Amino acid sequence: MTSRPPSRFPYAPGSDGTPRIAYGADYNPEQWPRDVWDEDIRLMREAGVNTVSVGIFSWARVQPAEDAWDFAWLDELMDLLHAGGIGADLATATASPPPWLTTAHPEILPVTASGATVWPGARQHWRPTSPVFRAHALRLVRKMAERYADHPALVAWHVSNELGCHNIYDYSDDAARAFRDWLRARHGTLDALNHAWGTAFWSQRYSDWEQILPPRLAASHPNPTQQLDFKRFSSDALKEYLRAERDVLREVTPDVPVTTNFMVMGNTKGMNYPDWADEIDFVSNDHYVHPGPQDRDELSFSANLTSGIAGHRPWFLMEHSTSAVNWQPVNLAKRPGDLARDSLLHVAHGADAVCFFQWRQSAAGAEKYHSAMVPHAGPDSEVFRAVTGLGRTLQALAPVAGAGREPARVAVLFDWDSWWASEQDSHPTSRLDYRQEALDWYSALLALGIRADVVTTRAGLDAYDLLIAPVLHVIPEVLAKDLTRYVEGGGHLVTTYFSGVVDENDHIWLGGYPGALRDLLGIRIEEFGPLAADETVALDNATTGTVWTDRITVTGPAVEVLARYRTGAYAARPAVTRRAAGRGSATYVSTRLGADGLTVLLPELLAAAGVDSELPAAARGRVELAVRRGPDSRYLFLVNRTDETVPLPGIGGELLIGPAATEGGFALPPRDVAVLRQSAR
Ligand code: GAL
Repeated sequence: MTSRPPSRFPYAPGSDGTPRIAYGADYNPEQWPRDVWDEDIRLMREAGVNTVSVGIFSWARVQPAEDAWDFAWLDELMDLLHAGGIGADLATATASPPPWLTTAHPEILPVTASGATVWPGARQHWRPTSPVFRAHALRLVRKMAERYADHPALVAWHVSNELGCHNIYDYSDDAARAFRDWLRARHGTLDALNHAWGTAFWSQRYSDWEQILPPRLAASHPNPTQQLDFKRFSSDALKEYLRAERDVLREVTPDVPVTTNFMVMGNTKGMNYPDWADEIDFVSNDHYVHPGPQDRDELSFSANLTSGIAGHRPWFLMEHSTSAVNWQPVNLAKRPGDLARDSLLHVAHGADAVCFFQWRQSAAGAEKYHSAMVPHAGPDSEVFRAVTGLGRTLQALAPVAGAGREPARVAVLFDWDSWWASEQDSHPTSRLDYRQEALDWYSALLALGIRADVVTTRAGLDAYDLLIAPVLHVIPEVLAKDLTRYVEGGGHLVTTYFSGVVDENDHIWLGGYPGALRDLLGIRIEEFGPLAADETVALDNATTGTVWTDRITVTGPAVEVLARYRTGAYAARPAVTRRAAGRGSATYVSTRLGADGLTVLLPELLAAAGVDSELPAAARGRVELAVRRGPDSRYLFLVNRTDETVPLPGIGGELLIGPAATEGGFALPPRDVAVLRQSAR
């Protein structure tokens, strides 16, 4: 595990003496007349709300002109919150620059790959690398920090909002300049850059740094390493901006923790969050359900990965929705019970805060059809009753606050470099979906009742008995060595198609795929066999492959073939192999089996690693188990994934929430959640 500054979570036990789960929302009172504010505070108290994020989109309100400031309304609001016993996670208000600024300085507006300006009219229309934007934004940050430094309502700073949501990729001249500086720092010399980018190809050799540009709209596929480096640079540029705001906040209010809301598994993959996590005092995340067959598996996966990014320390769920959003093609309302279950699944995976976007549903603007804690219908509504019910539930879970997540024995590895590189253009297939492959493995583990962690390469991988690394496409030499050491030391590694193919510069490991892992896996692949969109292959273990196949030759000793292709171009050849190496093993899965197929394959892989379900047989696959652990207690979160009542015989402990036990144990109603406390000693 990398070293991180000690977590300064706002409500960690010891900070104000009262461990509690934070509960609340984004609160945008500037959209409402003053008399609504009083009702808001009253309803917040009724619902058990103890924390709100304020000021997120308030720049135009607090600074109506370059040298005019209007804090009176925010002063009053902060006072009202404090009087109501509600803490403020105060935004720096820099997320959406006001019209006076973009009119005076259109050079802060982002530019797309094809050279179009991203105009004001929505939000986040600023270049991460613009010195002009930064000067104005940091001036505002300082004003906010100085104004509210000593305000008793202030519990944390909320830097900007969802950095990169709309502006992660900017191709402007500012970006070009900053990209060159970044490349100088990474590669040192032009020769090194020319080598890394493989510029001998297509006559791309650079003879001066000034010739280098972001990968703007080009005649054909832009240079792949240029694209990959631009992704890395873009993430770093926003991280650098985050640091700039944070440094001002730390200078003025050294004792107030700083966060910013991530979008782990959100609509953009541009931000390398594991690499950002060390920059803030506690990790926050926003998550929205994408309705579909794996939607709650995805919620669990995302929360689990957020915990991994937070080093298994408590994190802050900054936004999710009480019901429908407004930005999907069809915005489905949540079913009764889902509001609480979704929230508690985040808590199960380490969230010590449950907050929504937003408190009161807007009457105007682009998000007026987005659900909120107080819907258009007002407090006399199912949603508000569910909101107050959840407030009570979270109070009952106060003892959990501060507890970390108890590590599992199985991990799914999620790697940003591989995510970025494996899905680039000019590849064997455009159908590869990195995130989906990882999620399928996780879904299969859930279906078998196996508790797993989702981790990044920054985690201590040696702690796991079984490490599943789907599409680990980018393998620098040091990672190849680490994985070999892991297996020789007794770890069981599982990897898949298109893994180990390139190094950190996106150069092929030569001599046959999967180059970096060829010896460890004891196999050699001369040619990839991607499948057409309507093509499938049958395996002799009754599973079906899609997307990809490989023509595998077994080369190493101690390699057993766990499954063969039955149909397709590689019929009778190996499809899944496992090599016994050192005290562990290394398994290769050459096709996409999907969650159902992986459920068939996994038991054999789990057995080799000596891992079994911790759930009673009747609950496996139907209930998700997640465990949090404090100094004295373990907290078992049991989440019913089905629409049926599930018996849970033989699981004991003090019930914090959930149905009371009967003689033979207890039964979990459809889509319900129970939390049991056990002694950790
Ligand atoms: C987030 C954003 C919020 C709101 C929400 C709607 O991306 O931070 O301001 O727009 O989505 O789902």
